[in-house]
Amino acid sequence: MPLKMIRGDITTVTCDAIVNAANETLLGGGGVDGAIHRAAGKELLEECRKLGGCETGQAKITKGYALPCRYVIHTVGPVWYGGMQNEEALLRACYLNSLALAAEYQCETVAFPLISSGAYGYPKLAAQRVAMEAIRDFLETHEMEIYLVLYTETEPELRYAGLRRWFEAHYQEPPAKKQKKTDAVNGQQKAIGLVGAFRQRSEQNFAAAMSAEMVCEESVSLEEAVRQLDESFTEMLLRKIDESGMTDVQCYKKANVDRKLFSKIRCDLHYKPKKVTAIAFAIALELSLDETKELLQKAGYALSHSSKFDVIVEYFIARGNYNVFEINEALFAFDELLIGA
Ligand code: APR
Repeated sequence: MPLKMIRGDITTVTCDAIVNAANETLLGGGGVDGAIHRAAGKELLEECRKLGGCETGQAKITKGYALPCRYVIHTVGPVWYGGMQNEEALLRACYLNSLALAAEYQCETVAFPLISSGAYGYPKLAAQRVAMEAIRDFLETHEMEIYLVLYTETEPELRYAGLRRWFEAHYQEPPAKKQKKTDAVNGQQKAIGLVGAFRQRSEQNFAAAMSAEMVCEESVSLEEAVRQLDESFTEMLLRKIDESGMTDVQCYKKANVDRKLFSKIRCDLHYKPKKVTAIAFAIALELSLDETKELLQKAGYALSHSSKFDVIVEYFIARGNYNVFEINEALFAFDELLIGA
């Protein structure tokens, strides 16, 4: 998945480059800046001293030293003054200039903190949206795996009041697992249940039920039935891509799915994707709820109201909001799997 949101300490993320939310002196500070310098060791500061500082919105690169990454990209986010002093454009520039440097240094994996959202006071949600839009725009024309590392918990309830109401209306807690009985008791009860059920069913009903289960139509042989398969997941996906007018590349990038997996699907008419992947394509193609259910069913899945993930996805599709990053933001806030592969 080209863009992942993870929770944790960026200094522990193993990747080609981690990005530091620095200040213009590049001589260290608190927050993530302090954490990165502590984890990298004093050589990082010695190299930073030679860089001559960095302007807000710009980025400079050093080695990673004792960190589990090859490089540290230092960028300086804007201080938040209420949003009227070009803060959004400067924050966006931090991500794009850092990514341009990462690409220049052939980095394949990069991890960002939420720049400016700590000491510099940029509201976290707004900072996250700027980050995700800048990264999404970069991924339109580049192949890279990018992590957005969120350090503090965010309150899903505060952020998704509408979704919470939808949950209350649609989400059913999965039935609590029955108390596990001993196998012997279990097996015996099951046998009695089955025999009882058969006894209740008259001979004719039982025979009719068996024949209906065993063979679909007298007129169609088993071989013919197997030959008359419906359109497969791959066939429906490729058809829908054609109908949408998108290219394959546009579709799988919009689905936040990587190129390798898409070519696997394209080359295998009977490929069975993971459920999150099938849903990612349904969202990228902006399918209606019924078409989404149809595409999922071809991959052997259904949307279930006992799955938070499914209820959240259904919430967005029902509102015609197909923005994968916004949906992933909501899934992430509810600790669910993210869409994409
Ligand atoms: N890993 C990931 N994220 C972290 C970590 C960490 N170890 N420590 C803090 N963060 C998060 C914060 O929770 C916040 O969401 O990084 C985000 C940015 O916060 P700051 O580090 O305060 O950076 P910023 O808001 O850009 O302010 C930069 O603070 O540390 C000084 O020298 C720095 O003067 C500069 C200013």
